[in-house]
Amino acid sequence: MSNFLEERVLSVHHWTNRLFSFTTTRDKGFRFLNGQFIMIGLPVNGKPLLRAYSIASANFEEHLEFLSIKVENGPLTSRLQHIQVGDTIIVGKKPTGTLVIDYLLPGRRLYLLSTGTGLAPFMSIIRDPETYEKFEQVVLVHGVREVAELAYHDYITQELPNDEILGEMVAGKLLYYPTVTREPYKNQGRATELIESGKLFTDLGIPALDPETDRAMICGSAAMLADLKAMLEARGFVEGNTSTPGAFVIERAFAEK
Ligand code: A2P
Repeated sequence: MSNFLEERVLSVHHWTNRLFSFTTTRDKGFRFLNGQFIMIGLPVNGKPLLRAYSIASANFEEHLEFLSIKVENGPLTSRLQHIQVGDTIIVGKKPTGTLVIDYLLPGRRLYLLSTGTGLAPFMSIIRDPETYEKFEQVVLVHGVREVAELAYHDYITQELPNDEILGEMVAGKLLYYPTVTREPYKNQGRATELIESGKLFTDLGIPALDPETDRAMICGSAAMLADLKAMLEARGFVEGNTSTPGAFVIERAFAEK
């Protein structure tokens, strides 16, 4: 039996010339935990060319959704960025990953800290009712270079809080903090700087990070992960993994595409 499924592209959205997202059909037997990633790709010279992608849709949805960068000479994304509705992509059958709510100890406030396409797993997690059952507050930070790279901004601020099923939970509990580093915007600076200075907490009207009550998930570039991990550890947060839950978990936003 093949380790892969073939799924049909249902929609494609180009956010910028560096960033796009798309949805596909989902095999009825394909199960995953919100926040996990999967190998996806295209056949190249008769062989599947695959890369890891976080699933941005929630596991109760009928389709799958992915957020991707476009790398000019990237083996996969130089091709994948041209997909059209009706095209077929290859999807692996074995989702995995550490950004899963169950790999965190219980807590009151959940921080989802992301840069760039690191937002993708959190799009799944903020659409999961269980997230709001387990946490009193969910703080989503998305750091990007330019305003146009704030993918899903309007969905998060307008559609999701008005969603028939999730709306009430989201409106009462989700705090979204988009931040931009290379052009003017209402929030500016890297997540690391905003935590260090305390501006993030003042702006949101919440207390500073506390390992007793707060939990965190981090997804972004290797440098961002290393910096935030060190900052959390300096504040007494212990890292968790798939076998031992902790106060925070991390995963690289898969960039080598
Ligand atoms: P900056 O513009 O200061 O480099 P990229 O597109 O390179 O993945 O970056 C996405 C966002 O992540 C940018 O706003 C970038 O800020 C920010 N960033 C890069 N490195 C770090 C880091 N070590 N910690 C926090 N944010 C970072």
